[in-house]
Amino acid sequence: MSHHNRTGQVASTEIDLALFGALGDLAQRKLFPALFQLDREGLLAGQTRLLGLARQELDLDGFTSRVEQALHTHVKAEELDREALTRFLARLDYRCLDFTTVDGYAGIRDWREAGRERPMVVYLSVAAKIYGDICRNLEISGSLDDQSRVVVEKPIGHDLASSAAINDAIGAVFPESRIYRIDHYLGKETVQNLIALRFANPLFGTQWNQNHISHVEITVAEQVGIEGRWGYFDAAGQLRDMVQNHLLQLVCLIAMDPPANLDADAIRDEKVKVLKALRPFTDDMLGRDVVRGQYIAGTIGGQAVPGYLEEEGANIESHTESFVAMKTGVENWRWAGVPFYLRTGKRMPEKLSQIIIHFRQQPHYIFDPDQRGLAANKLVIRLQPEEGIALEVLTKDSGLDKGMRLRRGPLHLDFNSAFPKSRIPDAYERLLLEVMKGQQYLFVRRDEVEHAWQWCDNLIAAWADRDEAPRRYPAGSWGPVASIAMITQDGRSWYEDY
Ligand code: BG6
Repeated sequence: MSHHNRTGQVASTEIDLALFGALGDLAQRKLFPALFQLDREGLLAGQTRLLGLARQELDLDGFTSRVEQALHTHVKAEELDREALTRFLARLDYRCLDFTTVDGYAGIRDWREAGRERPMVVYLSVAAKIYGDICRNLEISGSLDDQSRVVVEKPIGHDLASSAAINDAIGAVFPESRIYRIDHYLGKETVQNLIALRFANPLFGTQWNQNHISHVEITVAEQVGIEGRWGYFDAAGQLRDMVQNHLLQLVCLIAMDPPANLDADAIRDEKVKVLKALRPFTDDMLGRDVVRGQYIAGTIGGQAVPGYLEEEGANIESHTESFVAMKTGVENWRWAGVPFYLRTGKRMPEKLSQIIIHFRQQPHYIFDPDQRGLAANKLVIRLQPEEGIALEVLTKDSGLDKGMRLRRGPLHLDFNSAFPKSRIPDAYERLLLEVMKGQQYLFVRRDEVEHAWQWCDNLIAAWADRDEAPRRYPAGSWGPVASIAMITQDGRSWYEDY
């Protein structure tokens, strides 16, 4: 039942949404605010209802005021208009239940009775190890029908085997066509724009290969540290938490071949081919092409912050990485010989996510020899903050005295100032809307998750064999010095126009 068309116009779709983990951090911080924004923009259709599910005993009034509180905290005051708020809160319902035993599920089935004509979306904002129990209990209790969809959050497992077990458990109840695996990076405005940029502009379409691109750089830097999530994070580390999903998804969108159309499977088939072509790490690459880091105490924005091992609840023996930099590649005709440099870390100087496409230099250079280093185009795709795309081009420096001096400057498309009226929606708004439409192209298919794990597992196993301590970097720096050396050994540097 797809409501998608090429112009992106959609008929809004009525659904019933059952949200497991409705009092959790993600629901309060992201999901309710996103649902509210959709309602405010007229995108939550007529009778759409929202059922909160959590362990805590609360009556509907208590739940409603918790959601209202969350909206006051996470939605800008000028966007919280009364009428929309009243309409939104009236959609809510709440049931307290123990997710792992089937008894309480009758409450969900009863709630559904009033909404059988619309599809139910089940959103699992809970630990992945109970996804299977929840799906099974929903089925046994008779809460589902053949329209019901399920949305699941990352991380799906901590390696290939555990992710396969979780996917099997979900798959025993829902067919793949009704499973929506979230990677919230796919809902970000600029990430979506990558598809438009690459496949709607012949200028880029023709240049997008190893003949014209020398290397690709992706930085996803975060300022935050572990944020009270030590238990989860220490068992995962930055490779599993960020690279396995978000960064590899970005690599896929940059590197994939043009899909035959915009259908979910056409796009996902191409992404899987990229994951299969990722260069595996061999032992001799470890010291040279991969750097693991862990932050020590430092300062960010003038504030002293503790090191990773001093965070609340920390295990002081931990070798878990809070930073990874790596040089990898996509081994196919389009990308042969083009390095992909990736880096991501916590407690960096600022929150910054960007992709830089470095084009090759002109085959023959005729300008000032001192300016030779300038002479290449770069496409800068900024995910956050200040979403936008800039193409660095060279022009003549103006003025009679400048001769043929070159100047580097951006052709700039800053989404905020170029389209000032349009609020840039949060990733979750777009993703929730796509689930309601029954449109899967922004969600991750099972084989994508598994190929991504396979590639990461290989690296994790190699690390485990060596059991080396990660390199230290002070909080507020751009990572271990070795991550700079990793790229300078190739005669390049991380893009530094921040
Ligand atoms: C999540 C990770 O998936 O992404 C977090 O688990 C991380 O550790 C977050 O902080 C980053 O998301 P964003 O949208 O702030 O870049």
